[in-house]
Amino acid sequence: MGRRACPRSLYLAALSSFQCKPLKQLKTRFQCKPLKQLKTPAVQILRFDSLPSTNLEAARRAIEGAAEGLCVVAAEQTAGRGRLQREWVSPKSAGLYFSIILRPGFELSGWPLLTLMAAIAVHDALLDSCALKTDIKWPNDILVNEKKLCGILAETVETPLGRAVVVGIGINLTSGSFPADLYRVASSVESATGKSPDAEVILGALVHALLTQYQLLQHDGGPEVIVGEWCARSSYCEGKRVRVIESNRALEGTTRGLQSDGALRVETEDGDIRIIRAGDVSVVRPCEIIGPNRS
Ligand code: BTN
Repeated sequence: MGRRACPRSLYLAALSSFQCKPLKQLKTRFQCKPLKQLKTPAVQILRFDSLPSTNLEAARRAIEGAAEGLCVVAAEQTAGRGRLQREWVSPKSAGLYFSIILRPGFELSGWPLLTLMAAIAVHDALLDSCALKTDIKWPNDILVNEKKLCGILAETVETPLGRAVVVGIGINLTSGSFPADLYRVASSVESATGKSPDAEVILGALVHALLTQYQLLQHDGGPEVIVGEWCARSSYCEGKRVRVIESNRALEGTTRGLQSDGALRVETEDGDIRIIRAGDVSVVRPCEIIGPNRS
């Protein structure tokens, strides 16, 4: 549903101690047309009534040897995890809380593109399933009218089968149980479309879109394709006036596209291009720009 600042001390290395039994295990297989010779992961979806975090559960299963394509969905999360150690508030049935295990065969330097890929997939899934057009804020926040509708958290995890990544996606379905401080900054599928969303339809579209984009990413020239597809769906790619907060500094500038690894290029006032690999990006509205010729 949304995030709040909250220091956390859970690390993926500690995951093997989690014991959670699925209330209901449904195996769902999706058929996607494979692009040429690339293998499409077989998708299995595990559903839970309640979990601390679908990312933690997926990571625990990855450590136990679960295959690429295993998805975990929960009706609620009691300790949902957001970016930058924040909490992801996840009340029952108010959101789609989803994680998928991937075991990419390509170099680690390309793994940041997985989060861009996931953002493209969410964008397409919402368009296909709800006719909802969204924007993507770098790197992977899904927005409607500048309000956040979905967040994505990709976490790497060391497993006996090699390093894997858990891509976690939280889509706000309804806003009724938003905590008061989130109304200003968060949106939901229901409030954006004026209709009650069908979580199963969105889930099906999401899995389909993820597999499609994952295939594209692994194909020859995949990184360039993903960067292009991301830019085609995001108003933040080019010419957006933004403020970037990195760990210990802030800068303002205008976006100038993405590097081939997905990093954001920001041109500062003095014409320098800064490469942003991590941080919080927010839009600077015209009334906030105070320069020598403006008052
Ligand atoms: C963000 O801060 O923008 C990322 C939020 C990611 C939330 C999702 S909900 C499903 C998955 N499980 C988690 O604990 N987090 C992710």
